[in-house]
Amino acid sequence: MKLFDVYPLFDVTPVKAENVYVFDEQGTKYLDLYGGHAVISIGHSHPDYVTALSNQVSKIGFYSNSIQNPLQHELAEKLVAFSGCEDYQLFLCNSGAEANENALKLASFHNNKRKVIAYKNGFHGRTSAAVAATDNRKITAPINAQQFVDFIEFGDLRSTEIILNQNETCAVIVEVIQGIGGLDEAITEFYKGLEALCKQYNTLLIADEIQCGFGRTGDFFAFQEHGIAPDIISMAKGMGNGFPVGGILIHPDIEASFGLLGTTFGGNHLACRASLAVLEVLEKEGLMQNATKMNDYFVSRAKTLPSVTNIKGRGLMLGLEFRFPVAELRKKLIQKHHIFTGSSKNPNLLRILPPLTIQEKHLDTFFEALKEEL
Ligand SMILES: Cc1ncc(COP(=O)(O)O)c(C=O)c1O
Repeated sequence: MKLFDVYPLFDVTPVKAENVYVFDEQGTKYLDLYGGHAVISIGHSHPDYVTALSNQVSKIGFYSNSIQNPLQHELAEKLVAFSGCEDYQLFLCNSGAEANENALKLASFHNNKRKVIAYKNGFHGRTSAAVAATDNRKITAPINAQQFVDFIEFGDLRSTEIILNQNETCAVIVEVIQGIGGLDEAITEFYKGLEALCKQYNTLLIADEIQCGFGRTGDFFAFQEHGIAPDIISMAKGMGNGFPVGGILIHPDIEASFGLLGTTFGGNHLACRASLAVLEVLEKEGLMQNATKMNDYFVSRAKTLPSVTNIKGRGLMLGLEFRFPVAELRKKLIQKHHIFTGSSKNPNLLRILPPLTIQEKHLDTFFEALKEEL
């Protein structure tokens, strides 16, 4: 049987990985500055993570959400400690799209409205409401287009208010830092204004922290920088360091009832254990502090490159903008220098999303390679 051919692939077959490196069949070592799309947070095959998951699966790996699972409570407590989201409620699922799908559905249940406001260049996933709220018509099928979504220029509060005033919008969904869109972030006044407008018009504010959350920016959640309290926060990617796990944090004012949301696999024992292991290592190794420190180092080195026109992002969600499309450069970095990097909707932006364990010496390797190619 053939694979459904939807992914353009690099000709690399990883068979092993360790911390910031990935090894192919021939034993070639690649520096992973992409983290499988911002997923690898505590480093590949971290020994504590391997032990925690191995021990867990040897006891119990899965049971559905019809029994008591103390690991879910343990994870909820730890998430409060990291995020300061006191009294929020946790619902666990399996991916980013699913987290946003549940967030949007919950908002609509809560205030009984059905339109969504989303922002230009935003990405929220590929399922029904999540893809409808994604600013990319190419990945939106006619079946998704039946959702009512207003797309507004990122950062435009005035237009947001005009739509909110129609009193039909159940949720405003926003990536605090846009990922695939190209690492744009609005100013604090925008996020604060959004929070106030959502309250005023009985609309829920959903912070999509799927890519920028879980410590990647140096804060646990990127919105913390702006001092807001979203109604729903969606998480995935770095949350499981590769184990498929996602979730939403839900403001205490939003009430649950049996059957409102549900999933078979979400919140299973292995998924909770993976996420707990991530949080334990983030803390033990000071990885959020490392994200900030490595950002400083990255920026100081990037400033010395004459062909870089813009340095974008926060923490270890970074981008270098050039005057030319970076596709060829990325190819050279991977084929010749054995370095994985990321792309974005902006063809001139090279994205860097490494494990949060990255050190100066790894970034030096990257900058030496860049110098040679530019
Ligand atoms: C900001 C954001 N939201 C949602 C998603 C969708 O997550 P998933 O691919 O796990 O469904 C992504 C994935 O890239 C993302 O970057």
